Amino acid sequence: MQADRHNKTKEEKVEASPRTDPNLYAMILENIDRAVIAFDQAGQITLFNPAAEAFTGRSSKQVLGTHFRDFFHNQETLLYLAKVAMEDGRSITDDEGLLLLRDNAEPLPVNAYSAPIYTNRGKQDGAVMIIRDLSRIRELEGTLRRADRLSLLGTLAAGLAHEIKNPLGGIKGAAQLLSRELDAEHELDEYTQIMIREVERINTIINELMDLGSPHPPTIGAVNLAKVLGDIILLQKEAARSKNITFLLQLDPSIPPIQGDENLLTRLFLNLIKNARESIERDGQVAIETRISPNYHLTSPGQKSSPMVDIKVRDTGCGIAEEELDRIFTPYFTTKSKGSGLGLAISQKIVEDHNGFLKIESLPETGTTVTVSLPLRR
Ligand SMILES: Nc1ncnc2c1ncn2[C@@H]1O[C@H](COP(=O)(O)OP(=O)(O)OP(=O)(O)O)[C@@H](O)[C@H]1O
Ligand SMILES: [Mg+2]
Repeated sequence: MQADRHNKTKEEKVEASPRTDPNLYAMILENIDRAVIAFDQAGQITLFNPAAEAFTGRSSKQVLGTHFRDFFHNQETLLYLAKVAMEDGRSITDDEGLLLLRDNAEPLPVNAYSAPIYTNRGKQDGAVMIIRDLSRIRELEGTLRRADRLSLLGTLAAGLAHEIKNPLGGIKGAAQLLSRELDAEHELDEYTQIMIREVERINTIINELMDLGSPHPPTIGAVNLAKVLGDIILLQKEAARSKNITFLLQLDPSIPPIQGDENLLTRLFLNLIKNARESIERDGQVAIETRISPNYHLTSPGQKSSPMVDIKVRDTGCGIAEEELDRIFTPYFTTKSKGSGLGLAISQKIVEDHNGFLKIESLPETGTTVTVSLPLRR
């Protein structure tokens, strides 16, 4: 390529400049994270880049030559966008909640833009559609919504706790005085003991709630995920002795220690693995897998981006009903007789404090997969 260019006349050199190098265009289309689909004037697909293949699950081989009407036949909005560009020669965008239907996968939340293609002479020659995957953004929005709920709760909790703790102290003090007046053998003393115990229980709940709401900056150090996960599994195996649960740990050995708060991360994975264990009634499997995430990078302004680590906790348990999926992060939401319902709310907060993401996918009666993505570096 280089040598070729060397021998060219001045005119030819202009043609081969980077701006017009067809290889450069091809490379951009190959690497861009948007699906790019082009149609010729007859409406047939002439270009289907790798992102389009990834989003739709179809290969360009299968798709090239297909008419756009057939390709989008069950996708009204996308069909409409293609038509406007092809037939009216106008460009058009749809930013609303568009879903790209796929053969063997969940619909993908996307937005789409389509535009006519014009030749140098100003004649229309087909159209192009660009589709952007919004699933990551939707996940982030979910995280933010949950964070909002928690911070509101924090404010409420701080106010309420103050109001409740003082009268509680009064009740406890009075019950202790009463207990001292009654002799330990007196049958009424049992009631005072119940009063004291229950007041202490309310106190614990309020303290946990305050913990959840108040910002606790994590103490950052190097955390060996393999060790943290291994220790938790050891304990959970013990707790699952009466059941027939297999615990699998698949660790990516290339993951270096990550920067985080060891205590908090232990609490996080303990909550998740405990939930996985509890979701299995008798027989089943809990699999924990770590790997360097292929996609996710954290970029904070002015800082280098960091690779992310994905930690997946997968169980073959009872799963979560769709209508409950959004409620499970709400503090005190529980379906267990002995659950506090704080496990996931706390987990969500720990993940946020580590600038990470938490995602849950679940099918009732099939199982649940929780994916935590954490940046390797702060
Ligand atoms: N892996 C899972 N499989 C099935 N259901 C789950 C799973 N993880 C969470 N859930 C559901 O989400 C609810 C809330 O979970 P969370 O961990 O916040 O509280 P909990 O487990 O009920 O109580 P605690 O964690 O305090 O013991 C659970 O009661 C359960 O219904
Ligand atoms: Mg739990």
